[in-house]
Amino acid sequence: MRIAVIGSGYVGLVSGACFSEFGVNVTCVDLDAGKIARLEKGEMPIYEPGLDQLVMSNMAAKRLSFTTDLNAAVKGADAVFIAVGTPSRRGDGHADLSYVFGAAEQIAQAMDGYTVVVTKSTVPVGTGRKVADIIRKTRPDAAFDVVSNPEFLREGSAIGDFMRPDRVVIGAETERAQNVMRELYRPLFLNETPILFTKIETSELTKYAANSFLAAKISFINEIADLCEKVGADVQDVAKGIGLDGRIGRKFLHAGPGYGGSCFPKDCLALVKTAQDAGSPVSIIEAVIKVNDNRKEDMAQRVIRACGGNVKGKTLAVLGVTFKPNTDDMRDSPALDIIPALQKAGATVRAFDPEGMKEAAKMMDNVVWSKDTYETMTGADAVVIITEWNEFRALDLPRVKSLLSSPTVIDLRNIYKPEDMSAAGFYYVSIGRAAVEPSDTAERRQALGTSR
Ligand code: UDX
Repeated sequence: MRIAVIGSGYVGLVSGACFSEFGVNVTCVDLDAGKIARLEKGEMPIYEPGLDQLVMSNMAAKRLSFTTDLNAAVKGADAVFIAVGTPSRRGDGHADLSYVFGAAEQIAQAMDGYTVVVTKSTVPVGTGRKVADIIRKTRPDAAFDVVSNPEFLREGSAIGDFMRPDRVVIGAETERAQNVMRELYRPLFLNETPILFTKIETSELTKYAANSFLAAKISFINEIADLCEKVGADVQDVAKGIGLDGRIGRKFLHAGPGYGGSCFPKDCLALVKTAQDAGSPVSIIEAVIKVNDNRKEDMAQRVIRACGGNVKGKTLAVLGVTFKPNTDDMRDSPALDIIPALQKAGATVRAFDPEGMKEAAKMMDNVVWSKDTYETMTGADAVVIITEWNEFRALDLPRVKSLLSSPTVIDLRNIYKPEDMSAAGFYYVSIGRAAVEPSDTAERRQALGTSR
């Protein structure tokens, strides 16, 4: 089997490398000659755990190669995957499909013999048919099928998600195309991964429905977290209490600063637009987006409140700026709203992130980037945890306390236990749980019969 993957971003690169690991002969294509040159030297353009080893070993085995020459890669390929970007179009929130359609035209010009053209990029319902129209118009003689095969890869664990997925969804409407896809995913058929063959539109919609549902779980638990704070409940326990119900499930119920990343914000917005255009609005997802947007502003206010209602002239130490750990991706990260709001309120923001600082520095001004966690905190008035990187989960608390000018920690990811933070002498504010004071203060106040 020989395939070409058009677009060597997160999705294209991970998919290409994983297919080559499955034994398929893969050529990854990208317009960016610099990127291709770096990949050929084994340098990854993105941070994804395990990707460099996978790329290197499959390149060495001559199953994986990189090129800017789309024609050469597509000629003779059994299948061509379109994995180019589909950003939100400026202004209206619709997915911008110009790269997908451009790729379809170029593929049509290059292909010889029966080819399966697979949309791997997240594309709105109906795009597969449009891709087929473009190919037919460009090359009326071509023998081909269009297939939709959405990715469900999480950044940071994308390789595991590809190799051991919960399911694979394939919108393929001819037996010939289904057979090619079956052959490509052979190792997964052998280990009995559920593989769903559907209509093209069904597969396209499944992707949006999956991501919107997950986003809904997050906005849901975030609103419940706010309510917990008002009524004196603990959101961690509520999440466990509902999540143990098999119909609900425990995953994706972590309250936090709101979802970000390259998929959820864009996909929720695109689903809303598609549904509006189809005259069948998804008002639940409209609300999910609104809750998430408001949340980011609320997070900045929460930090300001925790600092006594005013951060003017104060220095805040931010830990983590990426939208989640184990990635350098800053797209739609909550930090991009929270940090500027804090600066606007007069704070000096110092920050550290294990992988994201290079990207973040391009997107935010006047942040003082530190070289490590503890440098960030030295002399700061409070610590704000925005991303739950593992190294922030095991801070040397006495050292943190000694470095800060005031022992305040605002943890937007609930990675510490309130009682531990109180015992360690911190004023600790988290999400969906009561704020706690340093235990000695609390004891003193209790003795005096006063409260904060
Ligand atoms: C997501 C989907 O999970 C994946 O299947 C899809 O194909 C691409 O989009 P990804 O964007 O890499 O993957 O991130 P994910 O791990 O799903 O997290 C998304 C966002 O939600 C992050 O900002 C994360 O911090 C937030 N999140 C997640 C929560 O706030 N709470 C949770 O319980 C789970």
